[in-house]
Formats: sequence, C-alpha cells, structure tokens
Amino acid sequence: MYTIKQIKDTFLNYFKDNGHKIIDGASIVPENDPTLLFINAGMAPMKKVFTGEIPPQAKRMCNVQNCIRTIDIDSIGDRHHLSSFYMLGSWSIGDYFKEGAITYAFELLTNGFKIPKEKLYVTVFNGDEKRNIPADTESVEFWKKVGVSESHIIKCGFEDNFWRIGGDHDAGPCGPCTEMFYDTGDAHGKSYEETGFFDDKNRYIEIWNAGVFMEYYQDENGNYSKLDMKSVDTGSGLERMIMTLNGMESAYDTEVFLPIIDYLKQNSKIQNIESFRIIADHIRTSIFILNAGVEPSNVKRGYVLRRLIRRAIRHIKRIGLDEEKIPEILNLTIENMHTIDLEPKWNFSKQQIVEKFMSEYQKFSKSLEQGLKEFNEYVKDGKNIINGKLDSKIVFKLFDTFGFPFEITKELANEINIDVDENEFNQLFEEHRQISKTEGTFKSGLQDTSEQTIKLHTATHLLQAGLRKILGDYVCQKGSNITPERLRFDFNFERKMTPEEIKQVEDFVNSVIKSEMPVIREEMKLEDAKKTGAIGLFTDKYGDVVSVYTIGDISKELCSGPHVQNTKELGHFKILKEESSSSGIRRIKAIVE
Ligand code: ALA
Repeated sequence: MYTIKQIKDTFLNYFKDNGHKIIDGASIVPENDPTLLFINAGMAPMKKVFTGEIPPQAKRMCNVQNCIRTIDIDSIGDRHHLSSFYMLGSWSIGDYFKEGAITYAFELLTNGFKIPKEKLYVTVFNGDEKRNIPADTESVEFWKKVGVSESHIIKCGFEDNFWRIGGDHDAGPCGPCTEMFYDTGDAHGKSYEETGFFDDKNRYIEIWNAGVFMEYYQDENGNYSKLDMKSVDTGSGLERMIMTLNGMESAYDTEVFLPIIDYLKQNSKIQNIESFRIIADHIRTSIFILNAGVEPSNVKRGYVLRRLIRRAIRHIKRIGLDEEKIPEILNLTIENMHTIDLEPKWNFSKQQIVEKFMSEYQKFSKSLEQGLKEFNEYVKDGKNIINGKLDSKIVFKLFDTFGFPFEITKELANEINIDVDENEFNQLFEEHRQISKTEGTFKSGLQDTSEQTIKLHTATHLLQAGLRKILGDYVCQKGSNITPERLRFDFNFERKMTPEEIKQVEDFVNSVIKSEMPVIREEMKLEDAKKTGAIGLFTDKYGDVVSVYTIGDISKELCSGPHVQNTKELGHFKILKEESSSSGIRRIKAIVE
C-alpha cells in the first residue's frame, strides 16, 4: 500500500535526481494576480516565468502545490472529484521539451511507481483548424519510442488536449498537452479497443498531465501567439494518484479522507455516502481557504468559501450529525493532514479555524432550517414548477432571503426530480448585484441626510464636473463618502494634482454655486438616461427607472439623491486635501461653509 508520503518522495526524488530543483508551494490565494481567484495548478504562480518576464529559480523545477478548483463543485460526491487537491508538478523552463518530458513521465510511472505499461494509455493533441494550431505528431512518435503501443495512443481535440489556465478570455501561457491514464479494468466499463470509445470518466482515470507543451500565449481576446521560449509544465493530482496506485475505488477510501469518512459513519443518524464525501471534501477545502485568511462573504473568494461551508452544513444536517460534532470533524481533518504529511503552512491555529467555521455555521444554521421549510412549501403539490423546472425567482429568493447558494437549491430540487436553471439564476443574481452596486455607489455614500450632508452631496457632483473639466473627462468617481463634516471623493488620476489645478477646480465649483443654478431631478429609463449623456454606472441588465440629476449644462449624473434645490444653497466650496488613495486613485476631502 502506498502512502501519500511515499508518493510525494518518489516523485520529488525522481525529478531531483534528474536535475530538478525542489521549490516551495505558494499560497492558494494568488499574489499580484487579480485574474485568478485561487491557484488552480502548480504553474499558476509562475505564469510570468513561462512568458520570460520573470527568470525561473532554476531551469528544471518540481514541487507539490495545493490547488483549489471549484468549477465542478456539483460533481463532488462521486469517486474522485475534489474541490481541492495537491498537485505534483514538474517544469522545464526553456530546457528539455517533448521528448524529455515523455521519457521522464513514462520512466517514473513504469519504473518508479511500477505500473505495468499495459495499464497505461495516453492522449495527444490532434490539432485545431479554427485556431490554426497544428496536431502534435511529435509526441505520438516519442510515446512509441519509449514503448507505448499505438493502440494505447488516443488523439483528442482542443477541449481535451490543449491546456490553458482558464477560458477564452483568460490570458496566459498555454499549449497542447499529453495526458496519461490508468486502466482500472473491466469492473469499470468496456475497454477502449472493444468500443473505440475512450471512457475517461469511469474506466480510464487520468493520473498525470505529463506535459503541457507551453509554446503559445493566449491573450484576453482569445488570440494566440508563439512564445519565445518553449517550456514544459506537468501536473498530477496526488489524491487521485494514491487512489489509483492502491487500486482503490474512490479518493475517499485513501488515507486523505478515510478517518473523516469513518467518523461520519459512526456518528451520523443517517448513512449517506454522498453526503459523507461532500462533507469531508468541503470541510478540507474550507480549512485551506480559511487558513489563507479569506473570510466567508458574498463576493469572489469569500463566496467560494461560503458556498463550501454552507453546502457542508446542509449535508451535516441531512445526515443528522449533532452540532457539537462539527468542531470534531474539523479537528480530525487538521490532525489527519498532519499525520499523512499533506498540510498547508499554518497561518492560524486549529482553534481559530474552527471558530471561523462555526461563526459561519451560526449565521446559516437558522436560516437553513427556515429556508428548507419554505422550499417544501414552494414545491408542495407541484406549485412553482414550470415544465419540470423550479421557478428561478424562487431559486433566487432562497438565495437572497435564506442565503442558499445555488448548489443547495439545485440539490434539494434534484433530490425530488425537479430541475433548476442555472443561467436564469445567474441572470437574476447579476441584476441584483448591479442594483446593489448602483445603490451602494449613489446612496450609501451618504452617512445621513442632514442639511449639511445633502449640500456636500451636491458639491460632490460639482467637484466631479470640475475635475473632468480641468483634468480630462476620463476622470470619474471611484468612491464617495459624505458625512456632515466633509465630503470624501475618490477618482482615477495617475499623479498628484498641482496647487494650480486644485485652485482651478475650486474656482470652477464656486462659480457654479454663485451662478445660482437649479438642481433638477428627472426619472427616466436607463436607456434614455444613457442617451442624455449622464454619467454613472450603467449596465444593460438594469431595467428599472433611474433618476438623473442635472445642474445646468455643468453636470448630469445617474444618482438616487437627495440634493439641494439650487446651487446657491451651498455657500463656499473648499478643498482641504488631495492625496493618494491607492494605485492610480486620488482622494479629495472638501467642505462647504
Ligand atoms: N497545468 C497543467 C494542468 O493543470 C499541468 O493540468
């Protein structure tokens, strides 16, 4: 029986013996990379190394990298889908290429891990005409050369065998790849030879992306160009590798999860293997994310975390596990990570992580119960089911009122054979997000609606008009906060304003105040507001009526108010401070007196 430690050591030592430097894994939260929510592959922290922008630590490297991939969160619960895993990775940066990578991969699996070559199948890239990327015929030859029979080489298209870091709009290095699969035998379906169909879901399990041949760069528009340097990026999921090498049925039978699954079996009122797996997986991933300093929230990384925790809680309730047992599952998971030597660098104590998790539990537990009752009401007697689908407004309501992430409602519905529409839900979610954003930008910037705050609010519009006039009309609001004492206005501008510019803006605002201009509010459709040239946050999905405030021909803004009736009410405008707020953003504090 292989242990995690043996597999890691065999992998790292093999590459080390072949001249690769063992490097540290990075945090799962990417540094200086706003395009990526979480590190999802060993190469992700090194994108710029492949493009040549940053020199590598060594030309040959390898490591074990913790990765998060929640894209197919609803497949979790089957044999081997996990929301997080450790990737065994190896790299050649501008050093060996296809032949070297294929030779190493074959040798490590057949010699190092003693897998009979008959059990191995490989896929190679068959070219993509639309993108003008040729087939990888060289890899076919190198596989044959090391001893893989032609009948074990499968040619696949772009979706399967061209690796890139995300979708069509995620920029980064990329290239054709060649993957290795392990044949788990007749118990898991018909053989490839018999059917001509390569069953890579059940019978053949991918154990190693043995080489992404990085020679292209995809830009945000999905265009490809050649990189100056040819490199190799490989990756193998450690949890899948241990399952395969030990001939196990599922990743949850391995030492990574077994103690947690056993605990759940012993302590639950209801035995449900799918729930056990989801709980074990989601708790482990939540621990990684909490340890990286992310807090549950409704946006980005925090929302991924919230979905994982909440779905775990739903399954904990489903199997009838007592609340007091939850900290024990977390403790057990953390201790087990330590025992099997597969743990992150700890930033928080066990107790702190348990507290963070339980605080989200407290937030959700009650509303989960209420939401479940509501759900049952909604679907009773086929109410709210349209053509077998639960009305998306209900799916959204469960999210909005009871904090049900989409997956929870989907599961609940699927359990009673009802469908849900993810696209429709996403659309409602997006509309809601834009509305709150709009309100957030134009309403909650005001701390109260006192007379002085309202004056400062109107002054803010004049200030924005002044900045656009003096500095250029690309300048726009990036944030606003108004108290009775002062206004605070953030805007995009790349440098400090000169004293002259500040004076010009002040003079402009004061001249408008002196001109005694009326402030006019109109309600109109967003489309019409757009046509008037009003500034503010526009989105196509925001269908409601909006209000637009106009001050002569000086200012026209999408805004929910309130404002003064006439600029003469403002008195004298004065800028107190102009300073940096963050990179490319300046901040002004000003008063009217
Ligand atoms: N970056 C490659 C993958 O994730 C190795 O499959």
